[in-house]
Amino acid sequence: MRKVKLESLQIGAKLARTIFNSEGGVLLSKGMELRDCYVTKLKQLGISEVYLEDDISADIELKDIIKGKTHREAKTLVKRMMSNYQFSPTLDVKEVKLMVNKILDELLTNDDILYNLSEIKSVDDYTFEHSVNVCILSLITGIGLGFDIHRLRELGVGAMMHDIGKLCIPMEILKKPSQLTVEEFEEIKKHTVLGYELLKKSKGISMISAYIAFGHHERYDGSGYPLQLKGDNIQICARIVAIADVYDALTSDRVYRKKLRPNEVYEYITTLGVNHFDRTVIESFVKYVSVYPVGTGVMLNTKERGIVVRDNRSAPTRPVVRIVYNSKMQKQSIYKEIDLSMFTNVFIVDGCEV
Ligand SMILES: [Fe+2]
Repeated sequence: MRKVKLESLQIGAKLARTIFNSEGGVLLSKGMELRDCYVTKLKQLGISEVYLEDDISADIELKDIIKGKTHREAKTLVKRMMSNYQFSPTLDVKEVKLMVNKILDELLTNDDILYNLSEIKSVDDYTFEHSVNVCILSLITGIGLGFDIHRLRELGVGAMMHDIGKLCIPMEILKKPSQLTVEEFEEIKKHTVLGYELLKKSKGISMISAYIAFGHHERYDGSGYPLQLKGDNIQICARIVAIADVYDALTSDRVYRKKLRPNEVYEYITTLGVNHFDRTVIESFVKYVSVYPVGTGVMLNTKERGIVVRDNRSAPTRPVVRIVYNSKMQKQSIYKEIDLSMFTNVFIVDGCEV
């Protein structure tokens, strides 16, 4: 299977994965052939890409980091909790703790942890999906850092609730499709302190989890908010969630901008943004997050285009690629595969549509 943007897919293409709606119900089943009306509906729902099964991607398997069902349940839980808050402004974190335990069990029994962005994201469900993805990304980073189970649970709960303070920010500011004014941005910044206060008042939540809401926008070089804390003065769990939050936000479509590819975000975190984050945390993060996820298109310096077939864990920027188009953009009749870790003169220049 391979991931294809809606604008590049051909009508009649076969879906490789079932697409679910925001309530967890089936929208389009695996194996269905896509028609114009389905594509229109997906666009209306803010879905911009799907997985297809075709000859060029035959036998490419994608492993989910946690079960799709667990991911959907977690998303529904966050959605329900946020909607309930409108009617009763207290948070019951009991269910969140159980969900974090479930996610953690699946991660810890997974013998090859690799986050490969396999979930199809929808702009409309961003807030809920973001909470779940930040939780997963934070947990795998914490696992890499050798956290014990108790600390991982605290990290997971805080990560899932890191943006809970946004419930107290006016919707018209949160959903504003254009650039925020200075005053509006100041208002948004308050979600850190408000989230912390909200969590602190909730029954059964640890201070470490609550602090994540407070500190996830602080930056290692002191350029963040609310307190411009620096370095190790920012609690380690907040330093982890800071990277997970930026990674998931930048790899998601938003109302006001298109998403970046995982390799572009990897490059940002490890170069331009490197001073914003704790380097030890960056090292653990990039170890488990795929730079070029399996099933996505890439262009090589030879001008050939292909699909990532397998990761190379020891060389994350040099996966195995199935060449589909040669340098003259002629589709190949037999697809050769090239293991980029074996050829130093061949490398990926960018992600692309194939
Ligand atoms: Fe935030």
